[in-house]
Amino acid sequence: MAEKKETTTTTEGSLKKVIAHAKEYGFVFPSSDIYDGLQAVYDYGQYGVELKNNLKNLWWKSMTQLNSNVMGIDAGIFMHPTVWKASGHVDSFNDPMIDNKDSKKRYRADVLIEDKAAKYEEAGDENRGQNLRNRLGKLMEANDLEGVRALMIEEEIKCPVSGTLNWTEVRQFNLMFSTQVGSVAEDSSTIYLRPETAQGIFVNFLNVQKSGRAKIPFGIAQIGKAFRNEIVARQFIFRMREFEQMEMQFFVRPGEEMKWYEHWRDTRMKWHQAIGLPAEKLKFHKHEKLAHYANAAVDIEYQFPFGFKEMEGIHSRTDFDLKSHQEYSKKKQQYFDPEINQNYIPYVVETSVGADRLFLAVLCNAYNEQEVGEGEDKKVRVFLSLHPALAPIKAAIFPLVKKDGLPEKAQEIFKTLQQDFNVIYEERDTIGKRYTRQDLIGTPFCIVVDQESLATETVTVRHRDCTEQERVAIADLPNFIGNAVSFKRIFEKL
Ligand code: GAP
Repeated sequence: MAEKKETTTTTEGSLKKVIAHAKEYGFVFPSSDIYDGLQAVYDYGQYGVELKNNLKNLWWKSMTQLNSNVMGIDAGIFMHPTVWKASGHVDSFNDPMIDNKDSKKRYRADVLIEDKAAKYEEAGDENRGQNLRNRLGKLMEANDLEGVRALMIEEEIKCPVSGTLNWTEVRQFNLMFSTQVGSVAEDSSTIYLRPETAQGIFVNFLNVQKSGRAKIPFGIAQIGKAFRNEIVARQFIFRMREFEQMEMQFFVRPGEEMKWYEHWRDTRMKWHQAIGLPAEKLKFHKHEKLAHYANAAVDIEYQFPFGFKEMEGIHSRTDFDLKSHQEYSKKKQQYFDPEINQNYIPYVVETSVGADRLFLAVLCNAYNEQEVGEGEDKKVRVFLSLHPALAPIKAAIFPLVKKDGLPEKAQEIFKTLQQDFNVIYEERDTIGKRYTRQDLIGTPFCIVVDQESLATETVTVRHRDCTEQERVAIADLPNFIGNAVSFKRIFEKL
């Protein structure tokens, strides 16, 4: 392979640029676009779906193929309503909501207060910021919603739209979407669209353990849609009402959970770096205040254009969920451990990453602007430097010109490669324009068939990031591309 030139990235993709790029080049579209969109719902386009599927496949294989003690399932979105009672979601999966009476806009009261705290901190008043966060934390813990409102008034937190302090009271707003099952109204009952995929794993714990003859420690992985009626949906696909989670629950012997928590915390951080996210843009954020069911929790945050934000959560969930399901279902959720001759409810370490947040991180990181040319020819080249294993299209095959038998030869190569890889054939426009189109969607290789190809059975291969070209034998192309795009390149780094 050709030596890669150092890429000089001049500016980093701001969120606005990334959103515009995602729409223009077929990655992400607003939902129901012709009706002006539906807030917090997005559709993945022709290249977006390929990138997202590659991320999901990679995660799936990293979990289930690389760990012989992790198995996958695919549970339904709808579950028995009692599941959500047992999990605590019916009673406490709430956000504090407040409306401004003048603008009629709705906000999350806690987010408004946190934004104010962040402003103090940005202005250098760390203590005041922290103090405000602590006060908010205490009020939320005590479910003192009047206190939250009073704190907003005291801090003079105004509506960003109307600029007034004319707030309603603060109300708890449950984030679960509900609907009815049953065709006859009288017989119908309320069920929920799952707000996390994890519960589908918990209720199948014994099914998988028994049918798979699994021995603790073992894990169950799942990828699937989750739904949350987010009060404020912001930042593109970062916070959506319909999104996808990739979750794994790892069942362990009580008392061994911290060892596994540390293992998965470190494994997952390594994974994000292996797919190409730079170490300096990733960090751990340890939860100081833990949910009642957790005895340790940490987020892996990525530095999005709008700051470091949660991308994945790793939680030591104790035996809370299984114990609660045992209570509500009256079915034992125990495991007999032959090594210690004991029955117990296993403890659980969870890894939970949002496929859409991961997609956004990968897209933001891949977006590159590079100044090329001199004087009047100076221009900005935009390209997506996606890892070849993740790129939607692996290679584009071009005949240099549309004559002299070059299209036929290029088609022949295309048809062979198509059987193993997602490749495309292009003969329209100048070669420069064709390169540009592939750069914009992150295709790592452009294969050009020229006159020499007919005589020597070789082609030129242009590398996306450095734009350098090398000559490769046509017979070697499947290996050449196969090596570059293989998940193995990523697995080797884990
Ligand atoms: N089972 C644990 C759980 O659901 P969470 O922190 O609420 O934990 C896990 O969610 C991950 O799901 C987050 O780290 C994030 O990547 C993703 N996620 C959560 N809410 C989301 C939303 N509204 N839009 C997109 N992704 C979301």
